[in-house]
Amino acid sequence: MSSIPNRCKHLYNRLLAFQRSLFVGLNFFFVLLCIYVWNDRRVILLQNYNLLRLLESTNNYHHNADLLNVSTTTFNSTPTLERKDNVKVKFLPPTIIPPTSWVKYSKQWHGLRLPVITCRPQGRLGNLMGEYATMYSLKRHYNVTVVMNKEFKKKIKHIFLNTSLPDIPASAGHLKFTDWTPVKNIGSRVNYAPIELAAAGLLGAKNFIMTESSFEIQMFNQFKEEVRKEFTFAPTYTTKANGFLSKIMENRSSELPDPVFVGFHIRRTDYEGFFKRRYGGRLPETAYYTRALSHYRTKFPDAAVFIVASDDLKYARSELDQYHDVFFSPGFSPGEDMALLASCNHSIITVGSYGFWSAYLAGGEVVYADVTSKIEYRFSRKIYEKSGLDNFIPLPID
Ligand SMILES: *[C@@H]1O[C@H](CO)[C@@H](O)[C@H](O)[C@H]1NC(C)=O
Ligand SMILES: *[C@@H]1O[C@H](CO)[C@@H](O)[C@H](O)[C@H]1NC(C)=O
Ligand SMILES: *[C@@H]1O[C@H](CO)[C@@H](O)[C@H](O)[C@H]1NC(C)=O
Ligand SMILES: *[C@@H]1O[C@H](CO)[C@@H](O)[C@H](O)[C@H]1NC(C)=O
Ligand SMILES: *[C@@H]1O[C@H](CO)[C@@H](O)[C@H](O)[C@H]1NC(C)=O
Repeated sequence: MSSIPNRCKHLYNRLLAFQRSLFVGLNFFFVLLCIYVWNDRRVILLQNYNLLRLLESTNNYHHNADLLNVSTTTFNSTPTLERKDNVKVKFLPPTIIPPTSWVKYSKQWHGLRLPVITCRPQGRLGNLMGEYATMYSLKRHYNVTVVMNKEFKKKIKHIFLNTSLPDIPASAGHLKFTDWTPVKNIGSRVNYAPIELAAAGLLGAKNFIMTESSFEIQMFNQFKEEVRKEFTFAPTYTTKANGFLSKIMENRSSELPDPVFVGFHIRRTDYEGFFKRRYGGRLPETAYYTRALSHYRTKFPDAAVFIVASDDLKYARSELDQYHDVFFSPGFSPGEDMALLASCNHSIITVGSYGFWSAYLAGGEVVYADVTSKIEYRFSRKIYEKSGLDNFIPLPID
């Protein structure tokens, strides 16, 4: 039997320990809660220890902050960035977790430094490219280990031979998706915080798999030229594209100025219903097409030549066949059509990830449809402008 003072001391120590774990637990809970109540894009910076500071506030946040009874420094408007030309643009910071908050671990996993990030391939070509570019920029921002899984690689490697992200090491090749720690977007589809938390090492020394499609333009646009280089088309693709364009040039009257090629992508089929159901939006149609055509015809008189590709060529022809300066892809494979659009000098796009990449890779001026939607849509004016895509020009759809 210990003496009463000893037992008191013991009890007191246990109380202290309990208090400490309660404090740690509460802080952890607070971080989780902040992440979960976050249903719109906001900016979280991790300071010193687990104190969250919100930079970009919303009404919703104020409400949640009241509930949590946290006082934070909030800013009533989106932070602005001074550009060199003194134009103030509203922007999204490339990363919400500053790369300086990167946590370094010495732990290894199959010979790679943890954390390790990979990505579950989701969607078709345009989405896969968004996922790849996001992974690429995570590596660049946080110097985190990023690897490509076999299934992902199988889907894009034959189109882009020069992708630099390494494969999952052979010793870990047998792993199933369930052997990885899942990390997703949260709230709205344009919310990328957890991926960054994982990449910055703040979710621990684990191997993570992104289980939702990510497409963080504001992150990968920081490395625009590198990303475009990653997506260098295999020679067979560029040969086909160049062959198509040179046939058009050969046929061209020598009295006309040299052609300026404008890739024109029209996304239709399933997207019409999808865009309406998911985002409450309407696709651009005839009014937008004619407006976009005249934009380039005015800019390059007698020189603009439009190269149209679409998932619904029949529809595209019914809309644009009447014009002498419009040519149609015969409907190559998705990779080949993208290579064709990307080899043009400028672009016109409607909606969706495929059009985005065709235009991003072409690299010239990009005319896009200024669509409105009830739910924030990634390929929209708001996101493009906030991501700092200076060469993207919105045109109204009505
Ligand atoms: C919120 O916290 C402050 C101190 O930080 C305290 O004075 C106040 O009573 C708290 N309010 C509620 C509703 O708990
Ligand atoms: C980035 O990671 C590589 C590989 O782990 C390491 O050799 C390099 O020193 C890191 N760079 C920085 C700036 O920490
Ligand atoms: C792509 O990779 C091949 C072989 O690794 C190399 O010869 C070529 O220069 C690369 N192309 C680009 C555009 O980086
Ligand atoms: C070239 O011109 C000929 C004759 O007008 C036409 O039949 C052919 O389809 C044209 N080829 C292309 C690639 O435009
Ligand atoms: C326009 O694109 C064509 C085809 O890729 C290319 O040959 C030409 O050099 C480009 N023109 C300019 C001004 O970049």
